[in-house]
Amino acid sequence: MASSCCSSSVTFFNSHSKPNNPLASPVPAQANSFLRFHSNSSSAVLRLRSTPAPPPNAHSFRVMASTLTAVEKNREPLKIMISGAPASGKGTQCELIKKKYDLVHIAAGDLLRAEIAAGTENGKRAKEFMEIGQLVPDEIVVMMVKDRLMEPDSTEKGWLLDGYPRSLSQATALKGFGFHPDIFILLEVPEEILVERVVGRRLDPVTGKIYHLKYSPPETEEIAARLTQRFDDTEEKVKLRLRTHHQNVESVLSIYEDITIKVDGSVSKEAVFEQIDTALSDLMAQRAEKMGSAVA
Ligand code: AP5
Repeated sequence: MASSCCSSSVTFFNSHSKPNNPLASPVPAQANSFLRFHSNSSSAVLRLRSTPAPPPNAHSFRVMASTLTAVEKNREPLKIMISGAPASGKGTQCELIKKKYDLVHIAAGDLLRAEIAAGTENGKRAKEFMEIGQLVPDEIVVMMVKDRLMEPDSTEKGWLLDGYPRSLSQATALKGFGFHPDIFILLEVPEEILVERVVGRRLDPVTGKIYHLKYSPPETEEIAARLTQRFDDTEEKVKLRLRTHHQNVESVLSIYEDITIKVDGSVSKEAVFEQIDTALSDLMAQRAEKMGSAVA
């Protein structure tokens, strides 16, 4: 089922260590990919390469067909978290993931900017923290994200949580509310690239699309004329945001280490998406296989 997988490589932390970890389940024979864990002292590396699927015989084909019907009926919505430093490409990848997997994209930063735009008390307070690159206090963020996750579209279609949780207390609160992701994606990008991405970023207020003056320029003059820049997209402010990120990222990772994949976010956005897409396709194939064994 992996659509493209020839050169991708992703790392799962200790993903073999927990028996009920969905990512550690046996690999489906039907999946059009080959997965192998290489253990070392602290992590297991999952490598993906294409291999032809074995030809199904008549019996296995019948089993597969009935299984797929049950799988479709019982499909559990996908739940994804995506994390990374400022401008590591979270929003850009979410656009691509959402397009292919039809999930509800919930970005903590966007929810906060909506509060600011609406002129609410929470928005006014949030802006004070965002101006200095610090985390907005939990009493504003935690319930705001929880409420969005509980909306009917999120529970029915599945969700893609972007930039949340960003601290141990947020991760713990989310766990307490019963929200567990299937996979935690961490985008890794060297710091010197991040600053260039931030200062060149522009947003289209009409479509919400993210552009970059150099890497993703607007398609037309008309779009170029209406692009806006975020108030916290300066070199000075991104350095403050980066410091906050480094202070918190390890504690969040510790909560999701068994379902974490590290993705190289320094390559083109298409190449980043290819790594993510491969991991998601394999995750879905594993879930289908599990469901298949349960109904067989
Ligand atoms: P938030 O809005 O989440 O900002 P951020 O984490 O700093 O991340 P960005 O939105 O800046 O970057 P991104 O990773 O989405 O990158 P993008 O795809 O746009 O948070 C802002 C503030 O809100 C925080 O500082 C905090 O104060 C508050 N906040 C948010 N969440 C909170 C929480 N949970 N708790 C408390 N407070 C919270 O890409 C960036 C640019 O690079 C674009 O121009 C894009 O075109 C370009 N680009 C992307 N990918 C590539 C690529 N592969 N190659 C070349 N260019 C690329």
